[in-house]
Amino acid sequence: MLRWAVVSTAIPMGSAPQLGPRVLRPATFVSSPVRGQSPPGSRRLRPFLKWAGGKRQLLPTFREFYPERFRAYHEPFLGSGAVFFDLADSGRLGNGRVRLTDVNADLIGCWLRLRDDPHAVIERLRALAADYEADPDDHYYRVRGRFNPMREAIMNGAGPRAERYTADLAAMFIYLNRTGFNGLFRLNSRGLFNVPRGRYKNPRICDEENLRRVSEVLSTLSVTVGHAGFDAVLRTARKGDFIYFDPPYAPLSETARFTSYTSVGFDDDDQRRLQQVAVELAAKGCHVLLSNSTAPQIAALYDGNLDAEKAGLVAHTVPARRAINSNASRRGGVEEYVITNLPRRTA
Ligand SMILES: C[S@@+](CC[C@H](N)C(=O)[O-])C[C@H]1O[C@@H](n2cnc3c(N)ncnc32)[C@H](O)[C@@H]1O
Repeated sequence: MLRWAVVSTAIPMGSAPQLGPRVLRPATFVSSPVRGQSPPGSRRLRPFLKWAGGKRQLLPTFREFYPERFRAYHEPFLGSGAVFFDLADSGRLGNGRVRLTDVNADLIGCWLRLRDDPHAVIERLRALAADYEADPDDHYYRVRGRFNPMREAIMNGAGPRAERYTADLAAMFIYLNRTGFNGLFRLNSRGLFNVPRGRYKNPRICDEENLRRVSEVLSTLSVTVGHAGFDAVLRTARKGDFIYFDPPYAPLSETARFTSYTSVGFDDDDQRRLQQVAVELAAKGCHVLLSNSTAPQIAALYDGNLDAEKAGLVAHTVPARRAINSNASRRGGVEEYVITNLPRRTA
């Protein structure tokens, strides 16, 4: 049986370094959504990574809850940023401030390098994609073998320094994500990336157009990308801001367990702390949207929980598909929670 475990960039929650804001303009009120901002005929802006627990399939449901107006947007469990891209693509972010953070330093390093140096990243990724075609298996393991020592060279204690991620590393990170097993980012107990090659026929390794657009959007909006634990949002979010939380889900069963995006994992104490953060932000007048599984410990925190109710948080049960399960027969239809203090709009 396969078990997803030990993804190690050990950073105690909340103690991860904050990267300084890149362009910080005063928060502006975002006007009503401008739907379908992508020019007619053009392809939509979309995540450049596959990420375990990515939320693309839940976007139609989330759209029913997006606030009409908000000040800054925060996504503290960034991953591949499916909701950020959905908001950006539909013009809902206007010129407002955006703060994207995650505790995975490699992930953040890659986002930063793509934002700041897209040409170098794309050039290197293009070369990797061309070499992959000749002998995928051999090439994958050679790149993986180069990736580890390069990460080591910019280590700061437990993880690499996100701000020192090079274009080579960012290109390899995207390449390994597109060609590795299920797009997983998993480190062994020695801190080495050890995901085996995925069995894809024609993986799309270098989608140049999307990568360029992602970089452009990150540079033109007031986006801060940072390496931080989720509770850092308490220091940055203000009344009227919109926060989307997508934590590692509480497992519905042992075989569905996948909370190890970091070596410290995400346990019930973290889920409780997250509930307190969500309650505090809702009480402050922020718009809060949070997705999670319907595991009993999550129901206890949000479904009929007094603190959550007082803060105006409601737990909606929505249908979803679950892909992460080491047991293939247990993947498929499940219910999830969308927890929010926002009213639901029906079409
Ligand atoms: C379910 S994934 C987010 C997926 C994302 N919404 C997407 O569309 O791809 C959860 C993310 O939380 C991050 N994470 C885990 N523990 C964290 C913590 N304590 N603080 C901040 N981020 C954390 C993981 O690195 C992972 O990227």
